Amino acid sequence: MRTSQPQTIYLKDYEVPPFLVDHTDLRFELFEDGARVHSTLSMRRNPESAAGQPLELDGDSLELESVALDGQALSDGDYEATPASLRIDSVPDQFSLSVVTWIRPQDNTRLEGLYKSSGMFCTQCEAEGFRCITYYPDRPDVMARFRTRIEADQSRYPVLLSNGNDVERGELDDGRHYAVWEDPFPKPSYLFALVAGDLVEKKDQFTTVSGREIDLRMYVEPRNAEKCDHALVSLKKAMRWDEEVYGREYDLDIFMIVAVDDFNMGAMENKGLNIFNSSCVLASPDTATDMAFQRIESIVAHEYFHNWSGNRVTCRDWFQLSLKEGFTVFRDTQFSSDMGSPTVKRIEDASLLRTAQFAEDGGPMAHPVRPDSYMEISNFYTLTVYEKGCEVVRMIHTLLGPEQFRAGSDLYFERHDGQAVTTDDFVRAMEDASGRDLSQFRLWYEQAGTPRLTVEDEYDDAQGTYRLTIHQSVPATPGQPEKQPQHIPFAVGLIGEQGKALPLRLSADEDENDAPTQRVLELTGDSHTFTFHGLQARPVPSLLQGFSAPVRVDYPWTRDQLMFLMSHDPDGFNRWDASQRLASDVIESLMHQPKDVRTDRRLLTAYRHLLADRSLDQALVARMLQLPTVAALIEQSETADVQAIHEARRRVLTELAVELRDDLVACYRRNQESGEYRLEPEDIARRALKNTALAWLLHVKDEEGRMLAVKQFEGATNMTDRASALRALVNSDFEGDRQQALDRFYGQFKEDPQVVEQWFAIQASSPNAGSLAHVEALLEHEAFDWKNPNKIRSVVGAFAGQNLSRFHAKDGSGYRFLAKRILALDETNPQIAARLVSPLTRWRKFKNVYSEGMKSALETLRDKPDLSKDVYEVVHKSLK
Ligand code: PHE
Ligand code: ZN
Repeated sequence: MRTSQPQTIYLKDYEVPPFLVDHTDLRFELFEDGARVHSTLSMRRNPESAAGQPLELDGDSLELESVALDGQALSDGDYEATPASLRIDSVPDQFSLSVVTWIRPQDNTRLEGLYKSSGMFCTQCEAEGFRCITYYPDRPDVMARFRTRIEADQSRYPVLLSNGNDVERGELDDGRHYAVWEDPFPKPSYLFALVAGDLVEKKDQFTTVSGREIDLRMYVEPRNAEKCDHALVSLKKAMRWDEEVYGREYDLDIFMIVAVDDFNMGAMENKGLNIFNSSCVLASPDTATDMAFQRIESIVAHEYFHNWSGNRVTCRDWFQLSLKEGFTVFRDTQFSSDMGSPTVKRIEDASLLRTAQFAEDGGPMAHPVRPDSYMEISNFYTLTVYEKGCEVVRMIHTLLGPEQFRAGSDLYFERHDGQAVTTDDFVRAMEDASGRDLSQFRLWYEQAGTPRLTVEDEYDDAQGTYRLTIHQSVPATPGQPEKQPQHIPFAVGLIGEQGKALPLRLSADEDENDAPTQRVLELTGDSHTFTFHGLQARPVPSLLQGFSAPVRVDYPWTRDQLMFLMSHDPDGFNRWDASQRLASDVIESLMHQPKDVRTDRRLLTAYRHLLADRSLDQALVARMLQLPTVAALIEQSETADVQAIHEARRRVLTELAVELRDDLVACYRRNQESGEYRLEPEDIARRALKNTALAWLLHVKDEEGRMLAVKQFEGATNMTDRASALRALVNSDFEGDRQQALDRFYGQFKEDPQVVEQWFAIQASSPNAGSLAHVEALLEHEAFDWKNPNKIRSVVGAFAGQNLSRFHAKDGSGYRFLAKRILALDETNPQIAARLVSPLTRWRKFKNVYSEGMKSALETLRDKPDLSKDVYEVVHKSLK
């Protein structure tokens, strides 16, 4: 066991920083065995802080070489230094502090601070990585102007980058050179970045709305030179969009993007120098799928948007993380929605939220969008802070309407430019600009847990009225036993007999021609009743249109009603939702039926209509044809029996695929034509539909399907088609073809890490191919690397997160496997280790056969001596 318990940090203990930094001057000497960092900080006491406090700087695994105060070297007795802090008891009100540290980027496997990735030096400082570089007040409310000088061997590291503008460069002795960068914008240390490597530069240009020319530059390893176009095009789209939609113009003269292979997260918004995980930025049609292209577009935009929502206006402390992340995710979802199919984008976001975020909100790690305590902040880069945080901003947008929301955002940026602020400041700007009172709404930031809405209705034939009664309850979560009702925008429509959206008259005098067909009802109490007038017959309610709030809705739709909504609801999101509810209901009911009970024919009819319907957005059709995932079905059950869910789902899949065989072949052929690869929404939709049909066919070992898959695999002109064919074969029972395709694919792409990651993930997430033995074998594969987070995610992460029927093997072998890997990883990369614990944390959600094994895996983790703070927090909270 860990000898001491890690400290918990509380929001209520926040105090302003005792010292401020006006200027941070850094000099990096980069060598093959380490790096020397010289830092000179111009500091002064914070006038808002209590007088006489000692100076205490944060550090992490630092070796101190020297300290000087106002140019005078200090001796041992003048300060107290450990690898984790530097303390000087008496300092003047204003002073300059010079510190030299020695660090070892080459041995840095945590990938926080300065580290090496495939031969280049790079940094990751959010949230608390800067303290691994030098002693510093490493908190976001300390903002300084940075000047950075980098010195390194010229031939190994011709490119030297940091934030801001490139002000000087030159040669040094011994084949070394240097570059100096100056960032005119004060920033917190978490936005600092440095890169040194042998990289190629791709250049582009952007002219801002006010006519300023911005140099856009992308830096990648030479082998990736042909994979930059998409990111640069996405960047320019994002820059224009932010000007048009938010009135935000870029502020420096240069904007740089760097791709690195070893990265804990997706990407990082360092000022003027965004650093990306290669898999989230590099793409070419030959190597990246449509999904990857779309993901890259949204991540490039996300990081760019942070320049305003995050960098110009930053967070006061890490409890406010959603201030920048929730808002920026909201901005990137609006952007993606404008660039593609809004309905499909909404479906993707909502299904992630409903499966993964709802699970988090219902488990032992549940926390509010603005948490009020943490042990390790890295554990709080969560779906709740990001995705639920985004939904909270979206609800403000819905409640205020687009104009007032924009006024609120303008006021927020104007009022807080250059400041480190709180989520409350954000909400206040929205209130002040709109005149709306959001005091109850603030509970969305403070209360954890997913609100549940229970809806009842009543139709009065004689009066022609229809009443909806909505009850709200917010479940208890760890540390929050009692909840208050929240302010929920609940968008509804009513669909009439002919499938028409009816005018919604909330009073008898309202003119039917003035009444809208969608209304956003505002729920604020435990329960509300709304009466709609002038109805000739009982309507079918379309509830929570567009997923207007991150809540669960219970309403007893009949299967006939769901089929009706699937083909008539004017709200595309709810059409999809109806398809999922219908399929879930059918699958769930089969779980308790003998094997010979057939699937409800209505589901078959609904799918047959869908396959034939060419009037609908084909991207939506492709989505609706996908059965709810095992993860979604687990989330919907009280206590989950994974194997029973998996079996029932397979039964439905098999039966439908057999019956729909001809329709699927026809659908495939109709969408087969694949001329030149274009990334247009229609083409993406066509590929998605075709590949969905292919997957269904192969699921039932259809011979024609097999032939089509092999042909598509061999003849594919793009990675979307190739990887889909591979996935379909891997998930099929055609074992010979499966192995052949896997071998060919690897042979062709083994030099490309991003493609190899897909190859790993397709196998590890497949219930057919990805047996535990096979996954163990992948870990021994020549391309696997325990130091590379992407590889870990694509094998261990994909197995535990997506291959649920294998991971939840009743003998507990999947859990033991995961625990063993986490224990080993905890030594090298605790952040990644802690993330991998997540599939075990919800053990209470599962039937005993599963939960006992999950719990005992957690106990194995708990018993490791010197567990990292990261893993400690997740494990202990889960076992509580
Ligand atoms: N701030 C990054 C983003 O969301 C995510 C990140 C967090 C990256 C922590 C690295 C470390 O854009
Ligand atoms: Zn972000």
